[in-house]
Amino acid sequence: MNKTELKKSDPEVYATVEGEMQRQREGVELIASENYVSPAVLEALGSHMTNKYAEGFPGKRYYGGQEFTDAVETLAIERAKKIFRCNHANVQPLSGAPANIAVYFSWLEPGDAIMGMDLSHGGHLTHGSPVTYMSKLFNFVRYKMGDLETGAIDYDDMLKVAKQEKVKIILAGFSAYPRELDYAKIRAVADEVGAIAMADVAHVAGLIAAGELKNPFDYGFNVVTTTTHKTLRGPRGGMILSQGKVSNPLKAVEKTVENLPTLIDRSVFPGFQGGPHMNNIAAIAVALGEAMQPEYKVYAKQVILNAKTMAERLMSNGCKLVTNGTDNHMMVVDCVKSFGLNGKEVQHILDEVGISASKSTVPDDTLPPYSPSGLRLGTPAITTRGMKEPEIDKLTDFMLQAIREHADEAKMAQLKVSVREFCLSFPLPGV
Ligand SMILES: Cc1ncc(COP(=O)(O)O)c(C=O)c1O
Repeated sequence: MNKTELKKSDPEVYATVEGEMQRQREGVELIASENYVSPAVLEALGSHMTNKYAEGFPGKRYYGGQEFTDAVETLAIERAKKIFRCNHANVQPLSGAPANIAVYFSWLEPGDAIMGMDLSHGGHLTHGSPVTYMSKLFNFVRYKMGDLETGAIDYDDMLKVAKQEKVKIILAGFSAYPRELDYAKIRAVADEVGAIAMADVAHVAGLIAAGELKNPFDYGFNVVTTTTHKTLRGPRGGMILSQGKVSNPLKAVEKTVENLPTLIDRSVFPGFQGGPHMNNIAAIAVALGEAMQPEYKVYAKQVILNAKTMAERLMSNGCKLVTNGTDNHMMVVDCVKSFGLNGKEVQHILDEVGISASKSTVPDDTLPPYSPSGLRLGTPAITTRGMKEPEIDKLTDFMLQAIREHADEAKMAQLKVSVREFCLSFPLPGV
């Protein structure tokens, strides 16, 4: 994007923005939750929509002047509903965490129980980590993998605990789990205990949108939350998708499963947030439009193929992966078992040669979260850059070489040059 005005009026900020752009151009992005948006998404994000207050919902705003904000929010809503096959979409959550919190408050009373995936087995902080405020308000209970070698969840235990704790929401979702969940089994558990079934598909939304992974709505889920900036390749933001009766969000409704769409709308605004970020919503609409194109399906297929290629290459070089492979876009390497180093140390080594990844816990990790045993790797960003199987092999070899030779300064410096050259042959979108 052209940044001549910024350069002229604020050279200090310009330097940081330009620096980050160069860092992205010259380095490899293997953080599973990151991606590169298209120039069209960037333009919508930097548009005049940012100037507008639009509290309320399309056709029901508190301030005037809403002709175009109504139109763009409606476009985002309709596209989201079509892609995910549901009858309601709220596109206003400011990000993934606020989306989850808004759902909790739409359905739960303080002290109610909600069941999410154990954090060390792949669940997300917002699914009830003790460091979050939500964990002080609601009673989060856990399910886990029953078989760490395949990643299969222990659904019998899920049912037992759900009954015992009288859970009101069963939450399917993860940020570090490389397999698919059995949504039909989770729906059955929810039915047996009278809970609603909620999925947080933040990580895999793009793969679901492209039809490459299962859609929880096809298994009777009530609510699906997502971020818009991971595999979905939009701006940072969140969405809450739901099934039920859609009615006027400005009027209170009874707490019933059928009324979930309205309970959720009212929970987002005025329950939790103020004015929606309309530039973000415009950019979400653009990203959803892109996700409906045939090229996006090709992209999503390649993301998974690339992840499987990387997982195979790592395992054939003696690495231990959590669940021994992947079915989605990410994998978790057990660095202690693979290299005798912790995830923080390996993250640092890769950083030194221009490869970004994120440390991660492994199931029931005995190391602390800040220096855990694992490293999470993902392929959404490098696939957007155009990398395919041969490049994935090369990149995996760069990583293994860095870990092997990290004590040798000269070799690391040479490797950094090679990684940079390799990256520069795959253009960064929007540059
Ligand atoms: C499964 C899941 N849910 C929610 C979030 C939170 O999203 P955000 O960081 O946009 O608040 C994340 C982010 O990593 C996630 O992986």
